[in-house]
Amino acid sequence: EMDRTIDALMARMTIEDKVGQLTLLTSDWESTGPTMRDTYKQDIRSGRVGAIFNAYTSAYTRELQRLAVEETRLGIPLLFGYDVIHGHRTIFPISLGEAASWDMTAVEKAARVSALEASAEGLHWTFSPMVDIARDARWGRISEGAGEDVYLGSQVARARVRGYQGDDLGATDTILATAKHFAGYGAAQAGRDYHTVDISERTLRDVYLPPFEAAVDEGVATFMTAFNEYDGVPASGSRYLLTDVLRDQWGFDGFVVTDYTSINEMVPHGYAKDLKQAGEQALDAGVDMDMQGAVFMDHLAQSVADGKVEMAAVDRAVRRILEMKYRLGLFEDPYRYADEAREKATLYKPEFLEAARDVARKSMVLLKNEGNALPLAASAKRIAVIGPLGNSKPDMIGSWAAAGDRGTRPVTVLEGMQANARDGVSVEYAKGASYEFADEGKTDGFAEALALAERSDVIVATMGEKWDMTGEAASRTSLDLPGNQQALLEKLVATGKPVVLVLMSGRPNSVTWANDNVPAILHAWYPGTQGGHAVADVVYGDYNPSGKLPVTFPRTVGQVPIHYDMKNTGRPIELGEPGAKYVSRYLNTSNDPLYRFGYGLSYTSFAYSPATLSAPTMGAGGSITASATITNTGDVAGEEVVQLYVRDLVGSVTRPVQELKGFEKIALQPGESRTVSFTLKPADLAFTRGDMSHGWEPGEFRLWIAPSSGAEAATPVTFRLTE
Ligand code: IFM
Repeated sequence: EMDRTIDALMARMTIEDKVGQLTLLTSDWESTGPTMRDTYKQDIRSGRVGAIFNAYTSAYTRELQRLAVEETRLGIPLLFGYDVIHGHRTIFPISLGEAASWDMTAVEKAARVSALEASAEGLHWTFSPMVDIARDARWGRISEGAGEDVYLGSQVARARVRGYQGDDLGATDTILATAKHFAGYGAAQAGRDYHTVDISERTLRDVYLPPFEAAVDEGVATFMTAFNEYDGVPASGSRYLLTDVLRDQWGFDGFVVTDYTSINEMVPHGYAKDLKQAGEQALDAGVDMDMQGAVFMDHLAQSVADGKVEMAAVDRAVRRILEMKYRLGLFEDPYRYADEAREKATLYKPEFLEAARDVARKSMVLLKNEGNALPLAASAKRIAVIGPLGNSKPDMIGSWAAAGDRGTRPVTVLEGMQANARDGVSVEYAKGASYEFADEGKTDGFAEALALAERSDVIVATMGEKWDMTGEAASRTSLDLPGNQQALLEKLVATGKPVVLVLMSGRPNSVTWANDNVPAILHAWYPGTQGGHAVADVVYGDYNPSGKLPVTFPRTVGQVPIHYDMKNTGRPIELGEPGAKYVSRYLNTSNDPLYRFGYGLSYTSFAYSPATLSAPTMGAGGSITASATITNTGDVAGEEVVQLYVRDLVGSVTRPVQELKGFEKIALQPGESRTVSFTLKPADLAFTRGDMSHGWEPGEFRLWIAPSSGAEAATPVTFRLTE
């Protein structure tokens, strides 16, 4: 039926109609909401645009849809896309924070709520999940992904696709997902956004591609290209990525959209001599839809007329897009997502806000807790919240919360701590410091903050980065606290009052001084609409933190790139005496990170038994099960993320010192034990071998069941994989 409808429609389409379906344009923005310039409305009416982004609300999408359906010759409905990244109206923690929960039910739930709200506002399609592996904390977009790890990143990619798309694309409360940015964007040189990517094909395949393949496997509907080049070819012109890998190897059957004007950018990249040629290269490579660049709109018909592009290539792209519109049910009823009554009943539902609070507290990572400084003692009656992130609504939300309210709804840390305080506890606030780069060296607010500190029992320092210091085009060359925050923090500690640092940012910060001098540090990311309540839940001990880092925290920016699954090198540091020269180390800083991947504390403690194996060897067709018993050895209930790491000792190419191969988040009452088991098959140990084939190799493996990465985090066991 779908094929018949689309065949009949395509038979009536001119080349202009076809190019229209390949064109995605943005709506403008006015203070009251999204709006379309008249010229764009004219483009819709004349069938020159088939998809719109940044337009939402039932009423507005209905109005635009009416132009397409009732005023164009063929009446083909529009597709409405939007950046629904970590929530639509109800904002959840930034994506990196969600990944820190290591709780795939929570991640899926956040995407599900996003889909419910977005679809109720007329949207069909989100430009999420961003599944770029990121190992350079300077890169601002590290906040938008799931961190540095291939396995965790792939699980998060799957959970998000499931949450957005559900199991029925045609249901009006699900939306199409987009795996982006294909591919290698996270490897931008020096962490500078949009910069060149120059990595080996092996690294591309083993590190950057697996989350994309997982998304395809999960049925993701669309892909977005990346801004960067890969191996000298801009991603939007890469036939290797968009056709050889995506279509031929992975069998992806959805459509590919470019990133914003990235076809046009093939000219400054120096890959196309002009826009017309760039469009030809992009279509030929496998791009289906041109986001905002209007290159297809302006040049593709001429390219077909000139014989530079085959009509069959245009038809293929058109068909992929029409199929998606068909699967959404838009040909049956183009207005089926524009339902004002549903919209009203859906946005900011109390259960969504509750879910946002829950995911936010699950995302927080307790980085240090000397002397059980957290949760705050009942004797702390006068609490001082000090720092620029303590009472700032926009900062709770983080970047990419396009329809998210930054102005009134977010609950700040101060508000959350006041609202949830025990009887007899007062919470006061002083901003004290500034996170603005330009304010470094200033001391304006210090006196007020120190006066508040002096009359308080405990200081909750709320410091970190301004919300827009991560996200797109937000790279930094330093990972330190910006502005004059560090100076104030040192003064607060010098008062001798107990200090707890609630860190908020979208990247790993090198808070080395704080780690040495502040008793407790909690990473709260940008926790979203209900963030202040979630911080209060953790700080007061109503929720026991359970997050673990999805990314390594360096001691200093000079260690970047640093990630847990590095190679051993020929001169690993263990070969030398402490301080030895001629081993792979720095003169002035340890190789160890400040905080490892997978690390995070709890208000209770967990003991791990030695791991045991079901057998000492695994055959080609077999499997092996590794188990360990975890016990809650403290006096409060808690959750623990139990992690499985493996090291392939010898390969046809060198292998990482550890690779995450499984994890499970378990809840344990005080004194309770649970045995956690992981089963591995040979395919789980596959990689890109010396001859570039994908597969495993026989040999000896080391295996850890551990509370974090790091060879010392648990005693390993060894097994053999045999042919
Ligand atoms: O979805 C985004 C992408 O991640 C970066 N460039 C703009 C797109 C649309 O807003």
